Amino acid sequence: MTEIIAGMPRAAVERMLAAERDRFTGLHPKSRALAARGAAHWLHGVPMHWMNDWGTPFPVHVAEARGAALADVDGNRYVDFCLGDTGAMFGHSPAPVAEALAVQAGKGLTTMLPGEDAVAAGELLAARFGLPCWQMAQTASDANRSVIRWARAMTGRPAILVFDQCYHGMVDDTFVCVDGHRVVNRPGLVGQAADLAVNTRCVEFNDLPAVDAALRRRDVALVLAEPVMTNAGMVLPEPGFLESLHDLARRHRTLVAMDETHTLSSGVGGYCRVAGLEPDFLVAGKAIAGGYPCAVYGFTGEVEQRMRGVLASKPAGHSGVGTTLAGNPMATAALHACLESVMTTAAYGRMIALAERLEDGLERLIEQEELPWHVQRVGARLEVGFTRRPPRTGRQSVDALPSLLPEAVRLYLLNRGVIITPFHNMMLLSPETPSAAVDQLASAWSQCVTDLRIAARD
Ligand SMILES: Cc1ncc(COP(=O)(O)O)c(C=O)c1O
Repeated sequence: MTEIIAGMPRAAVERMLAAERDRFTGLHPKSRALAARGAAHWLHGVPMHWMNDWGTPFPVHVAEARGAALADVDGNRYVDFCLGDTGAMFGHSPAPVAEALAVQAGKGLTTMLPGEDAVAAGELLAARFGLPCWQMAQTASDANRSVIRWARAMTGRPAILVFDQCYHGMVDDTFVCVDGHRVVNRPGLVGQAADLAVNTRCVEFNDLPAVDAALRRRDVALVLAEPVMTNAGMVLPEPGFLESLHDLARRHRTLVAMDETHTLSSGVGGYCRVAGLEPDFLVAGKAIAGGYPCAVYGFTGEVEQRMRGVLASKPAGHSGVGTTLAGNPMATAALHACLESVMTTAAYGRMIALAERLEDGLERLIEQEELPWHVQRVGARLEVGFTRRPPRTGRQSVDALPSLLPEAVRLYLLNRGVIITPFHNMMLLSPETPSAAVDQLASAWSQCVTDLRIAARD
């Protein structure tokens, strides 16, 4: 019997994948040669091994990235809907950020003192996100690790709560998953000696009774969550879930950190501002300084008072909260420029209008072709999921990800000049994305479906 993958016969998907791999290889001779050279000195031929996770026969080597466009070393041009998996949400090298970096590069790359940019950036963060106090880190992973440490110190509680299949960066405490009735270390984890489940509780997203049960023991310092799960496909919160989560946390005296690294796509001030949520901490990284390494975490006035108490009463010595000072004036200059001139109301208006248009186009395709697929969107960020109904939990989402089909679609699109994100199928709209590119992407998806149907008949 023919095996069907999300509405498409497996044989057709395999045929498409093989043809697209050949086409890719023909289009990228210089990338191929560079990949062979790189393989001699980089693990998997790339500076970070997951740069190789695109499902292409070898990685595309980029010559230049500007606005929403990428050019590769073979002269192929692409509209980029991956946007560095979010770092370039506002376009590659936004001009105000590039200029601020160039100026700062001539005035000092690293110091152990703040400048005027820091003061201005703090004011803008408070105004934009509605939280009065802020700290900087270099990566969102650093920021999340810091928030966890602060929350434990402030509450005197050892545990944190995360959602199954979450991702918050290189944060040991979060790499657990639900296995039946147990919480265990994530199976793919490399080199983890500790049993992370000792101090990390893990439940399914959208499961309020499970959240309540986990918090009832009153040993949980912090709930760390994305307001929309964006790293296990896309899982939207059910109506009222996040509000009730905050209420439960307040009742059980647990702090809440919302990691908005990806959901900054929601609108000015991120998902929480748009939805009227008031977390104790908010974390943002990646795009917050236009793609330059920088992250921030904000917190309420009450949290700030408790932090001061922690610092005043602790013994002398390292706090364990901190990250590199290297490049901090550069990051601060980029952060200031991005907040002031790039992450504007007008930019969000454009991004979200483009995303709505793409969503319409993809939903029309799914309906017309009667595909058992769905589209999810949070502001300027979209995903196609290969099930008829959207998932409720991270586990459902991950379990529903089909083999081969997403890879075939991505490669087909890439070979036609449009790049979407690997792992799942995220498409991000930047203020620099031309509206014609949205139509180009929607029609490439449509052509891909047509070609899959043709391959199914062959
Ligand atoms: C929600 C979320 N938080 C944190 C991170 C880690 O960001 P960084 O690479 O800046 O450490 C990521 C990375 O993808 C993320 O998706």
